[in-house]
Amino acid sequence: MMYGDMKRKVQIEPLPEDLALQAVDIYHVYGLEHQNKVVALKGVSFDIKKGEILGIIGPSGSGKSTLLLALGGMLKPTAGQIFYTDGTDITKLPEEDQFDFRRHNIGYIFQEQNLIPYLSAEKNIEMPMKLISTPFAKRKQKVKELMETLGIWHRRDHTPKRISGGEQQRVAIARALANNPSLIFADEPTGNVDTETSTQILDLFKELKEETGTSYLLCSHDPIVGEFSDRTLEIRDGILIGEHLEGIDLTDLDSSRFLVLDNQNRITIPEKALEELQGTLLYTWDITKEGFILKPLSRQEGQRERKIKNCTTCGEEIPVGSYSCPRCGAKLTRVVR
Ligand SMILES: Nc1ncnc2c1ncn2[C@@H]1O[C@H](COP(=O)(O)OP(=O)(O)OP(=O)(O)O)[C@@H](O)[C@H]1O
Ligand SMILES: [Mg+2]
Repeated sequence: MMYGDMKRKVQIEPLPEDLALQAVDIYHVYGLEHQNKVVALKGVSFDIKKGEILGIIGPSGSGKSTLLLALGGMLKPTAGQIFYTDGTDITKLPEEDQFDFRRHNIGYIFQEQNLIPYLSAEKNIEMPMKLISTPFAKRKQKVKELMETLGIWHRRDHTPKRISGGEQQRVAIARALANNPSLIFADEPTGNVDTETSTQILDLFKELKEETGTSYLLCSHDPIVGEFSDRTLEIRDGILIGEHLEGIDLTDLDSSRFLVLDNQNRITIPEKALEELQGTLLYTWDITKEGFILKPLSRQEGQRERKIKNCTTCGEEIPVGSYSCPRCGAKLTRVVR
C-alpha cells in the first residue's frame, strides 16, 4: 500500500456493538487567527448507545451547538476524535466524503430550523432523499408517511413562512428522519415552541425511538429535556460536569447528579456543597473504604477571602450566597461576601 493510501485509510475498527457514537477529548477554539479566542469545548468525552435518547443540558454559551456541529461533521473540532459505529472518525473524513457520510447516517435538526424558505413543507422534507438519489415514488411515499405521523400532511403545500413555529419544527424533524438515519442530532428541538408542543415533540422522539431503534442526541438549555431522555449529561463552560440517569430531578439537579471526572482529572463540586463550604479554597484529602474524603480547612487555617460581586465571566451581578452566575451559568468558587 502506498503511503498516501495508508494515510487516508486510518485505522477502521468498529465500535463495541452497543455504541452508536464515541466522542473522545473534543476541544474547540473559535477565532484562532484573531486575538479573541473562545475555547468553546475543553475536552469533552462521552458515548451514545444504540437506541438511546441522550440529553445534553447546559446554559446558553456552554458549548452545546458547537459540540453538535462537531459531532455531525459540520465543524472540524480543534482536537479530538468522533467515531461512528463502523469506526469512521468523522473529524478525519475529507470534506466531500463528509457530505455523503452525513446524508446516509445522520439526521440533523438545527437550532434555527434552516428550512428552505421558497420550498413547500413537502419539498423541504423530500430534499435529503433527492440528494441521495432515492427514486421518485419512494420519496413521495416516505414524505406522506412522515407528514402523517407528525400531523402536518394538511400543510404539505405551505412554505415555512405560512405555517406555525411548531409546524416548522415538525417539518424540520420529518426532514431529519427522511433518510432513516441511525442517529438524530437535535439542537434545542423545543426552542421555538410552547410547552404543550414541546412535550408533544419530545414524546414523538420517544415513540420513534421505540419504533425504529434510532439513537437521539438532544441538546437544550431547558432541563425538561432531561425528563424525556434515557440519560442526560450536563455541560458547563465547555466541560461535561455531570450525568443523570432516569429519575433526574429537574428542580434540584444537584441531588440526582453523578459527578464526572473530566480529562484533566477535575470534578465540579455541586452548588449545594459550595454553599455549605462558603468559599473554602484549601482541603485535606484521604482515601478510605467508603471513598474519597475531602475535608475543608477552617477559615483561619486556609481560606483566602476574595469578595466579588460580579460574575468573572460575563459581569452579571451575583446574588448573595450563590456560587453560579444566574445569566451565563459560570461556576464561581471564590464568591465570598
Ligand atoms: N462562530 C463563533 N465564533 C466565535 N465564538 C463562537 C462562535 N460560535 C459560538 N461561539 C462561542 O462559543 C461558546 C459556545 O457557543 P455555543 O453556541 O456552542 O453555545 P450553546 O450552548 O449552543 O448556547 P445557546 O444555548 O445560546 O445556543 C460561546 O461562548 C459562544 O459565544
Ligand atoms: Mg446553541
